[in-house]
Amino acid sequence: MALLPILCFPDPRLHQVARPVTQFDARLRQLVGDMLETMYDAHGVGLAATQVNVHEQVIVIDASEQRDQPLVLINPQQVWQSESRRVNEEGCLSVPGIYDGVMRHDAVHVQAQDAEGRTHRVEADGLLAICIQHEMDHLLGKVFVEYLSPLKRNRIKTKMLKAQREAGR
Ligand code: NI
Repeated sequence: MALLPILCFPDPRLHQVARPVTQFDARLRQLVGDMLETMYDAHGVGLAATQVNVHEQVIVIDASEQRDQPLVLINPQQVWQSESRRVNEEGCLSVPGIYDGVMRHDAVHVQAQDAEGRTHRVEADGLLAICIQHEMDHLLGKVFVEYLSPLKRNRIKTKMLKAQREAGR
């Protein structure tokens, strides 16, 4: 397995829309394994394939405290969402160091496939529900900062570009 480089906002590749997975083969299992390793290494709660520049509908999540409950969502479809919503503070491995409030449904149910192509259903609330909504946005090419005001978003963009320039020196 290998650590994969994570794209950072405002990289335009983060806005590509992911296509469905059709081949449940060794390459996919390798991708899922690498994504899990990359997520754990970065201390993230979730990672979408879009963030590692693979534009396919693959998400890995671990919202457990012990970091021992990996969840793989391939071709996820949201089949139910609670009417109740609230603002939660979110961060993202593609926008390091930035945390801000985003309105999300309190609970969601999703149907997805695993790396072997088996369909499963996840009924999520709490952190897991927030994370699933956040990662499914990535597959649509949407980064959480797009929910913030244009002023805030531009400030974040400037800060990220400056940090990336300094890291490149
Ligand atoms: Ni993210």
